[in-house]
Parts: sequence; structure tokens; C-alpha cells
Amino acid sequence: MRFDILTLFPGMFTGPLTESILKRAQQAGLVDIHLHHIRNYATDRHHTTDDTPYGGGAGMVMKVEPLAAALRTILSPAPSGAPDTPDTPDTPVAHPDAPPTLVLLMSPDGPLFTQAMAEEFSHWQRLVLVCGRYEGVDERVRTTLIDREVSIGEYVITGGELAAMVVVDAVARLVPGVLDEASTTEESYSGGLLEYPHYTRPAEWEGQPVPPVLVSGHHAEVAKWRRLQSLRRTLQRRPDLFVRAAAQGFLTLDDIKLLTSL
Ligand code: ADE
Repeated sequence: MRFDILTLFPGMFTGPLTESILKRAQQAGLVDIHLHHIRNYATDRHHTTDDTPYGGGAGMVMKVEPLAAALRTILSPAPSGAPDTPDTPDTPVAHPDAPPTLVLLMSPDGPLFTQAMAEEFSHWQRLVLVCGRYEGVDERVRTTLIDREVSIGEYVITGGELAAMVVVDAVARLVPGVLDEASTTEESYSGGLLEYPHYTRPAEWEGQPVPPVLVSGHHAEVAKWRRLQSLRRTLQRRPDLFVRAAAQGFLTLDDIKLLTSL
């Protein structure tokens, strides 16, 4: 899967993209990430990318032309010769029928990013992420060039870069082959519930033993215990999620029996 990130601060991505799982996914050719410096697409002498807002007010607004030029270059079928075009071949497409390209704007005004969205995005061949800065972007960028807006939470951060890193990370780990499949099928949110607690050696630490069922070797009992913990944790910590999971049919009759047995 391919990601294109448009930013005024490409240096911010060193680290998140060059360590750990994202690094390995790129080395394995499963994920292909390209950074594009928006400033390279500004045509005036000073490479201006922002300007004062019409109507007055505080702050600066990101201009439409550099963003439009960047997006049009990146999305054009044969972008060779552009300042920071990819020189690597496209990564294999995990889903042959995947739709081609989705353009996202990172913005506190967008719908909240969820695991369901990450799953949906992972089915596209290519995600283009536009990182907004300053007070926002010229509205014509949103209406003309963007497919969807995404917010990573109900707070404002200094720009879309950190948000783009979150989205790339959450989506890339769902690309087949990046992680082993079991680790993404049994995690928080995947079945509509939070995950059960985990333990590893030692069997007892500072007087706290691990729950005996986990060392019993009884697989069916372990599965039952984990399901109950998952249900209980969701009910206690995220009652809203529990209600949603029930409404979406994630809960079984056995789940209700388990909970009422408490
Ligand atoms: N840019 C500023 N705040 C943001 C947020 N919460 N989500 C996405 N992009 C942003």
C-alpha cells in the first residue's frame, strides 16, 4: 500500500517512519511512504505557502495554489521529473479490487478517526494525507481537492503532521503481512470491545500472581476468562462502546450469560 504525505515539515516524520514496524514494513516492500514538501510547489520567489485571511482575523491560512499543484502533480499518472516524486516501484496491492486513491485532510474539524476507519482506509491502494498548518487551509482546498477530513481527537494540535503519523501507523499495521494476523484480529476495538488483560513471566511479581486460569493449560477456560474480562472492561471503562457493540451484533447469548454469572 502506498502513502503520500504532503507537509511543510517533512523532517518531523523521521523517527516514526524510520523505526520499528513501519520501518520493517517499508523494507519488506509492503508499505511505500513518500513525503512531499509543499513548499517545493510554491512558484513565487519566496515559496510562499500561507497568507493572511480575507475578512481579517488572527493567524495565517494555507494557500490553495501550492497545495493544488502538489496534489495534482502527485496524483497525475506520470509524475516523473517533479521535485520529490517517488523513484521506487509501487508496492503490491493487497486487495486487487481496492479503489485507487483517497485524499485525506488532517483537520480538527473532521470526523473522529476510529479503528473502523483505519480498516476501511487499509483497503485503498493509496492514501494521500494533507497536513494542514496555521489557522487552517483555504476552504477551496477542502471543497475541490479533498475526499475526506480526519480528526484524531477533540483537541487542536499545532498541525496535521502528528495526526498523519497516527493515521499512517494505524492503517499500515492492518496491511496484510505487516503484522501476524492474530495480533490484529484480537485487539481492542476489533470485535467492538476492549481487549482482555495480558500477563507474561514471572508467574508472581511482588506478591501478585497471574490469574490461575492462564497457567492451567485449559484452552477453553482461558478463552472464556478472556471474553469475560473483555466484556467487563468495556462495560466499566467504555459503556458507550459496550452499547454500540451490542447494537452492532458483536455480543452473543453466551456473552450475556457470562456477564449475568458475575
Ligand atoms: N490538526 C490540528 N488538530 C488536529 C486534530 N485534532 N486532528 C487532525 N488534524 C489536526
